[in-house]
Amino acid sequence: MLKAVLESNVPNYKAIDLIESIQDLKKKLNAVILAHYYQEPDIQDVADYLGDSLGLSQQAQATTADVIVFAGVHFMAETAKILNPGKLVLLPDLEAGCSLAQGCPANEFAQFKATYSDHLVISYINCSAEIKAMSDIICTSSNAVKIVEQIPGDQPIIFAPDRNLGRYVMKMTGRKLRLWDGSCIVHETFSQRKLIELKLEYPQAQVIAHPECEEVILQYASFIGSTSALLKYTQQSPSQSFIVATESGILHQMQKLSPDKQFIPSPPIDNCACNECPYMRLNTLEKIYMAMENKQPEITLAENIRELAYKPIERMLAMS
Ligand code: 13P
Ligand code: SF4
Repeated sequence: MLKAVLESNVPNYKAIDLIESIQDLKKKLNAVILAHYYQEPDIQDVADYLGDSLGLSQQAQATTADVIVFAGVHFMAETAKILNPGKLVLLPDLEAGCSLAQGCPANEFAQFKATYSDHLVISYINCSAEIKAMSDIICTSSNAVKIVEQIPGDQPIIFAPDRNLGRYVMKMTGRKLRLWDGSCIVHETFSQRKLIELKLEYPQAQVIAHPECEEVILQYASFIGSTSALLKYTQQSPSQSFIVATESGILHQMQKLSPDKQFIPSPPIDNCACNECPYMRLNTLEKIYMAMENKQPEITLAENIRELAYKPIERMLAMS
């Protein structure tokens, strides 16, 4: 069992068993911990539910817990709050943002939308509540293609904020989408040259990729999907080795569920840890414990924005 000592800036700090303490707080608060696959392994292991953005939204909608502790990034916890206005939603570090959400400011998006006023707005869930409030339907990487396919062919569509996912959806549906020019700083860092080198080194390995990656990476992929879809693919595929082009946190689950298979992270351009999301990795077990102990930092939302943002999420959940 992991032992950890809380920092001395924590009031009454003492050596405690963090995992045991988090489990105790879960019972005391009637709390549920929802975690994304890009979290540190120890956070994944303490979570009640681990999933992709769609799965996490569905869990947030279904939970009977009084408190939702979100081990993920801000837009995910915000979505949980939009779905559960009466519940306490905790995000262990409020700085856990997302380059896609930050690259789509509400005032600029309002102008973009006004320029194409006859367009339906489909927004990737990786955006702020304000953008959701201006959208007709929300989608995630696991249902974007399915949702666009349900829209009549003559209806023009704005797709925001991820241009790479948008391009992938265009390719899969044959539809022309008006794209917002945003991207994920993690999925844009994979190196085509290093990926080719790895393929030569491991000729049996299958490349699998998240649709937030650029086309130069996606073209090598045997399978493209959301984090949950990638994980499921590695379990079901007869292949014994995989080069994984998404945030490296998911390798923990892949290895756990298929201990005899080999998982190789697709390398970033520089010799950096750029295939780790700097926002996701702000969360720690210590911060989860502190958030539960102090019942903060809490996600709050203006009710008018929440009500507007709820409708396109509800549409997505009905169309998924
Ligand atoms: P999914 O887990 O929904 O595939 O999303 C990946 C991601 O980048 C979340 O921020
Ligand atoms: Fe945002 Fe990319 Fe991090 Fe996901 S991995 S939270 S899309 S910056």
